[in-house]
Amino acid sequence: MITAIFPAAGKGKRMGASFNKVFAALSDKPILIHTLVSFSRCSLVDNFVVVAAPEEAEAVSKVLKAIPGIKPCKVVIGGTERQYSVYNGLMSVPAAADIILVHDAARPLISPAVIKNVIDEVKRSEAAVAAVPVTNTIKVINNENFVINTPDRKTLWMMQTPQGFSKDLLMKAYEQARSDNFLGTDDASLIEHIHHPVKIVMGDYKNIKITSPDDLIFAEAILGKKAVSKVKSELSSAISNAFEDMKTKLLRTRL
Ligand code: CTP
Ligand code: MG
Repeated sequence: MITAIFPAAGKGKRMGASFNKVFAALSDKPILIHTLVSFSRCSLVDNFVVVAAPEEAEAVSKVLKAIPGIKPCKVVIGGTERQYSVYNGLMSVPAAADIILVHDAARPLISPAVIKNVIDEVKRSEAAVAAVPVTNTIKVINNENFVINTPDRKTLWMMQTPQGFSKDLLMKAYEQARSDNFLGTDDASLIEHIHHPVKIVMGDYKNIKITSPDDLIFAEAILGKKAVSKVKSELSSAISNAFEDMKTKLLRTRL
């Protein structure tokens, strides 16, 4: 059984809104709902754990009930850091789950292909994360902003989510991080902390984390493009149907 945990208990400080960014509207619905609808369309995932801030949990539970076709979903309370939120989610995954995906609620543009890439690789390697090659040159700098060195770009990848793991491995990594007071910036770093290999799989440049208002502009553009191509394909099938109709009528008049 595959369970997806969605940390959604942040404050969204960099977004600069007066509320948690996962509730910000993107096209026709809040970011969190986009994310859950995308995962609900993936038949490989069985159920969800959504991690919400204490003061938002009740509202989130109500909203989830209203999403048509959503997978079975539990809501749990998050912590002060993303890692603590994921830990709380992990403590309440169903006993039958053997693979856990962790996906930022703030990444609404996730595609089924990327989810599948991660799941396929978890089955082989136990730890797999979606990522994309870095396109800019990255510099390491010191405290005075002087460049120390330039790592070879071919070795640099930008981490995304989903990050997927066998449940036992992820539990072990989270417990070890807790007892070592180790705080990582993603789930994979906890696996690295216990010296288990982590495999990278191809993510998607569109699978951005909505962090600041500019990200919303990008996301709106992507969704707008999808909507346009949907209308176009509906339009072209309507045109070709009409054309067929016309041909049949012409044929009949000739006969
Ligand atoms: N998150 C969480 N619990 C926290 C912090 C973050 O569940 N204590 C979640 C966020 O809701 C988000 C994901 O982890 O879906 C990625 O975190 P980030 O993009 O940093 O979101 P925020 O922490 O909300 O944003 P900011 O850092 O700008 O305050
Ligand atoms: Mg944060």
